[in-house]
Amino acid sequence: MQMKVIKTVAEMKNFVRAVKKTGKTIGLVPTMGALHKGHLTLMKAAKEKCDIVIASVFVNPTQFGPNEDFAAYPREFESDCAKLESVGVDAVFHPEAAELYPSHYTAYVTVDGDITSKLCGARRPGHFRGVATVVTKLFNITEADHAFFGQKDAQQVVIIKRFVRDLNIDVAVEMVPIVRAENGLALSSRNKYLSVAEKKAALVLSASLKAAKEAYTNGEKNVAVLKSLLTKQIQAEPLADIDYVEVYSFPDLEEIETVKGQAIIALAVRFGKTRLIDNAMIGE
Ligand code: PAF
Repeated sequence: MQMKVIKTVAEMKNFVRAVKKTGKTIGLVPTMGALHKGHLTLMKAAKEKCDIVIASVFVNPTQFGPNEDFAAYPREFESDCAKLESVGVDAVFHPEAAELYPSHYTAYVTVDGDITSKLCGARRPGHFRGVATVVTKLFNITEADHAFFGQKDAQQVVIIKRFVRDLNIDVAVEMVPIVRAENGLALSSRNKYLSVAEKKAALVLSASLKAAKEAYTNGEKNVAVLKSLLTKQIQAEPLADIDYVEVYSFPDLEEIETVKGQAIIALAVRFGKTRLIDNAMIGE
């Protein structure tokens, strides 16, 4: 089947209705485009689990703050389509902003509490409201049985799982492990913004995560010590400017003094104008 390119909600709903009539399952992979191997891994996970895979490519304006990179965010729809087709995606949803946010748009999904008020939620006010809103709309439009998100945005996955549970949305949310380049850099559409020197400097993220994981494996369970190890290593890189270095319980994102159950080491660091995030799981 040739991949369908769908631009309107009405057309997507027709497509979904036809699929549902056949009893097939739908997997959704929401993206903002500028696709890399990390995204394609999500598509492959969706192909393995579901009969029909829908990818969305939509740079969602409501999740960007006024001083963020909405205008500069890479838009590469033609090459994105070629990549999606190469992994057997059945349909790509690529609406204009006005299709999802018509004039006098007023309905938003907000997720309160500890899981939203820290990490990127604290640094990017309104970001997760925009994410939760657009993802809810995509769930409603595609009636997906499964939806796939990358672990690099682990807080996003925690928040999506929470509102799916709280709002009784009938979709299974799957978190797929981070995909890294051979040198350890987590794949991200924003890596395109980095200069050669910044790209090299950004390797400190995966290197410091690896060192912290090793320290944990060798018996270091104290969160303050782990954070201090990470901070020192990142600060030793002259081009790195730390936004946050945190260790929280996972998936509840609660403050902990000692790693007991599963925990997440989460980093956000600027290299020049580019803010990168990365994380690693430790514990049981
Ligand atoms: O992770 C992203 O690319 C975006 O936040 C998402 C989930 C596609 C919503 O716009």
